Amino acid sequence: MKIACIGTGFVGVVTSTVFASHGHEVVGLDIEKNKVESLSKGEVPFFEPGLSELLKKTLADGHLTFTTSYENAIADAEIIFIMVGTPSAADGQADLKYVFASAESMAPYLKEDAIVVVKSTVPPGTSKKVEEIIKQKTEIPFTTASVPEFLREGTAVEDTLHPSRVVIGATDKKAIEKLTQLHRPLSDKIIIMKPESAQMSKYAANTYLATRITFINQIADLCEKNGADVQEVIAGIGEDSRIGDHYWYPGFGYGGSCFPKDVSELAAYSRAVGESNNLMNKVHELNSARTPYLMKKLEEKVGGWKDKQVAVLGLAFKPNTDDTRQAPSIAIIEYLQQSGANIFGFDPKAKWTGKKDNFSQKESLEETLIDADVVIAVIEWPEIISFDFSKTKLNKKQFFIDGRNQFDPAIVKNWNYTYLGIGRK
Ligand code: UDX
Repeated sequence: MKIACIGTGFVGVVTSTVFASHGHEVVGLDIEKNKVESLSKGEVPFFEPGLSELLKKTLADGHLTFTTSYENAIADAEIIFIMVGTPSAADGQADLKYVFASAESMAPYLKEDAIVVVKSTVPPGTSKKVEEIIKQKTEIPFTTASVPEFLREGTAVEDTLHPSRVVIGATDKKAIEKLTQLHRPLSDKIIIMKPESAQMSKYAANTYLATRITFINQIADLCEKNGADVQEVIAGIGEDSRIGDHYWYPGFGYGGSCFPKDVSELAAYSRAVGESNNLMNKVHELNSARTPYLMKKLEEKVGGWKDKQVAVLGLAFKPNTDDTRQAPSIAIIEYLQQSGANIFGFDPKAKWTGKKDNFSQKESLEETLIDADVVIAVIEWPEIISFDFSKTKLNKKQFFIDGRNQFDPAIVKNWNYTYLGIGRK
């Protein structure tokens, strides 16, 4: 099939590359010339396992090209995916200006019976607005649909090649058939629904997962009050198939480009439609307060942050990415800077771009740990959780904060650190 992908951000690059790898003729479009030039040379502007190799292969096969021209991208396209950014507006809802601008720009070049698919995360009702915008500029018959994206950073290529399910929000029979045909080789779980339901499914999935994380963080806090171990509690609840034993890592709160944004957008949407007394508003509030809350509690345990040498391990918001958007490390480092600590950071891929006051990023774990009074293992990068910290133990009292409960407390104690986990002793 001939496919156009508008927007070459994270989702755009992964989606266009994966469809091209399945033999479709894909054109990726971006209004930024630099992005188009570097992608055309096979350069991915961020770290994502497996993506660079697949991009180079699909470019070499001739299935994927990039352009800045709407005419080039749209004129032949049977399916057009809109995957542009939706930054949060001042009222907390998604700002749809780029979605609408792309609809307006593509309209004059649309081919008859083209399917315009909104893949960006948008509030229910957006496909209808996109349709109205395009109709003002063309007489050509076309349809719209909504196919939300559920990929995770760090496993994005795998998630797109083998999605757990594909949600197609559409009402037009021919569009449903064509989108089903496109996605069938990727998944046999194709779920057809109204566009509004598809858009709500995306918000519901992310808000549920964010709520689950917030829930286990709160259970962990209660465990600390009574001597229970949250990891034992997780084992105690996980065997119930209604609950499950996965996706339970209590810590400094969720981050990334999706959860914080999607939860706060759904919260803002709920306020805008007069349903503000709900969970979404509270989840967003609790997660935003999570890091300062833990850092204050830990401050007492380590005897104050002032003048302490603190090693912050894991600057990305999760392992296997260089993305630091809304990463817990940011709030941790800022808290430490305000508290007068000296901070050394380490991450295998991510770079700290915030204020440098009392902060320096090191190239290796060994360098980061030199002189550390407190080690904070924020993110479960394999390099960090498999490291032998006994090698760098100093001859002084040192604290080890296991920010994701990834270490065995007995081993950490054996290394002669004072162990501080989340919801466990
Ligand atoms: C998420 C969704 O999983 C994905 O389906 C959607 O398309 C985009 O948003 P992503 O942001 O890449 O994907 O990361 P994910 O692995 O889900 O983690 C999100 C955040 O939650 C990270 O900060 C992670 O560290 C944190 N997290 C995850 C926890 O704090 N505890 C957990 O138990 C799991």
